[in-house]
Amino acid sequence: MCGIVGYVATETSLRGSEVVAGGLARLEYRGYDSAGIAVAGDSFALVKKAGPLQALLDELAAHPLPEHSCAIGHTRWATHGAPSDANAHPHVSFDSKIALVHNGIIENVAELREELAARHIALSSETDSEVVCHHLALAYAKTGDLSAAMGDVVTRLEGSFTLVAFTPDDPQRLLAARRNSPLVVGLGDGENYVGSDVAAFVDQTRTAIELGQDQIVELTGTEVSIRTFDGEPVEGTTYEVDWDADAAVKGGYPTFMEKEIHDEPAAVADTLLARTDDTGHLHLDELRIDPAILRQVDKIVVIACGTAAYAGHVAKYAIEHWCRIPVEIELAHEFRYRDPVVSEKTLIVAISQSGETMDTLMAVRHAREQGAKVLAIVNTHGSTIARESDAVLYTHAGPEVAVASTKAFVAQITACYILGLYLAQLRGNKYIDEISGYLDQLGRMPGKIAQILEKEDEIADLARSLKDATSVLFLGRHVGYPIAMEGALKLKELAYIHAEGFAAGELKHGPIALIESGQPVFVICPTPRRPLLHNKVISNIEEIRARGASVMCIAEEGDEAAARAADHLITVPQAPTLMHPLLTVVPLQIFACALAEAKGLNVDKPRNLAKAVTVE
Ligand code: F6R
Repeated sequence: MCGIVGYVATETSLRGSEVVAGGLARLEYRGYDSAGIAVAGDSFALVKKAGPLQALLDELAAHPLPEHSCAIGHTRWATHGAPSDANAHPHVSFDSKIALVHNGIIENVAELREELAARHIALSSETDSEVVCHHLALAYAKTGDLSAAMGDVVTRLEGSFTLVAFTPDDPQRLLAARRNSPLVVGLGDGENYVGSDVAAFVDQTRTAIELGQDQIVELTGTEVSIRTFDGEPVEGTTYEVDWDADAAVKGGYPTFMEKEIHDEPAAVADTLLARTDDTGHLHLDELRIDPAILRQVDKIVVIACGTAAYAGHVAKYAIEHWCRIPVEIELAHEFRYRDPVVSEKTLIVAISQSGETMDTLMAVRHAREQGAKVLAIVNTHGSTIARESDAVLYTHAGPEVAVASTKAFVAQITACYILGLYLAQLRGNKYIDEISGYLDQLGRMPGKIAQILEKEDEIADLARSLKDATSVLFLGRHVGYPIAMEGALKLKELAYIHAEGFAAGELKHGPIALIESGQPVFVICPTPRRPLLHNKVISNIEEIRARGASVMCIAEEGDEAAARAADHLITVPQAPTLMHPLLTVVPLQIFACALAEAKGLNVDKPRNLAKAVTVE
């Protein structure tokens, strides 16, 4: 995620650092584990601090910067390397010729790092960003032309990046580039700006240019020129920003929750980034558990709470199918206070967005005391669960601000699937082409999620029509079962409506007694290409409709049986069974959010809840 701001002017003053600090404050929602700023004019200065932005601001107040004509700033959400002063941006090259900030993940960092090692260029951080900074300096040293150097370096990078850099040799010029990561230019009077989004400079100018994919922009105080990575000039289209500063922080959405639901395609795509080598083999460098131990694992126990536990429920279906290892799901607080059977051959997978949930942390400690290895799937770098586990697989959902979890959930499922495929590769359960096939399927999910987001208005209309409901039930089978439970949880916590999720097959064993005339029931329908599952769910729909239920069905496009059976149909794109949860949860999140808004509730901060539950 990370937030980036850049400023360049014709005059030297203290304005740049003020503009950048203001921009970083509005971008703090993009990351808040460290922040930094570098400026250049008659002299060069750099300040960076781990911790929230305030730590940087305090340092700047204590040690004011010299006057400058350009400034770049960064607020970080760690992806490579823990939150620390050294890993904070901006980075400065070995020869002090380049200062650079970066947002994104460089996939071919290992190869680029080796080239630096061969030249005896030492790294002072663990970041992929510093590696890019040194390469930019090497390219700059050849020609003394920063623009040409940027052009050279970007073509060598794989992955996602927004880069903003300057050289103290020419402090009236900024260079920036983007691929798969956002960058917006702001046009001022005698000064210009760049930012991760318009929140970076919305208090300075409302005139902006959005940079396209694979483009480089060169800015001075009076000129902005854009070109493609291939060197073709681009005529940037200016537009007027009509958001106020508050809306800008939320990317133009009225709430963080809506923004974060819209972040889901990126959360899945980013979590998939940089996981394979050239031969298609999965490489999980951060998995510091000896492969010999992983080969011998005879049981996986997922420990987590709430939404994170439901991600584990989904993963159980995939990991058991791919790896033939039994997977148990345990609520962390239940696991901790009984006498769980774990051994050195048990792999504990602790899932947590915050990495600070006390129940999960206590369960991690307990499991390690019993001799089990703990692998954490965590979204927040440097968090306690990440630090105390034997290994960490990070989700790259970026900071989740809304209390109820949405984008972290799809990222957690994605990370669990990566783990499952890695274990299948390691243990020889799947051939490499099969693993590549599943990774391809996962790679198509962001686009499919984006298609569902286009139906937001239709789903919101449905939610508004049910704003006076007092109870909503959710049914699912197979991977649809945990999604039913997650849909119910979202509705409870956001809209304060009684909601229950059931396994559809369990209905006749009791819950069907709840069905009466008009009872709203969501049914998550499996793909019709799995007729055994699908037909059973269609029968379940008939059973509850016969008793008066009003059925809202989430089914694949083209599922005619579901279309006939349901009172209201929401379609999702076709996908293989195990990929369905990444799609079917999205309408349920939108539904709960829209229904809560229709009731006038604060969806970002539901009553009685906290984002990180740091007490047991
Ligand atoms: C529900 C929700 C919670 C969290 C749970 C675990 O929307 O957000 O159920 O999933 O408190 O939190 P983490 O993932 O931070 O451990």
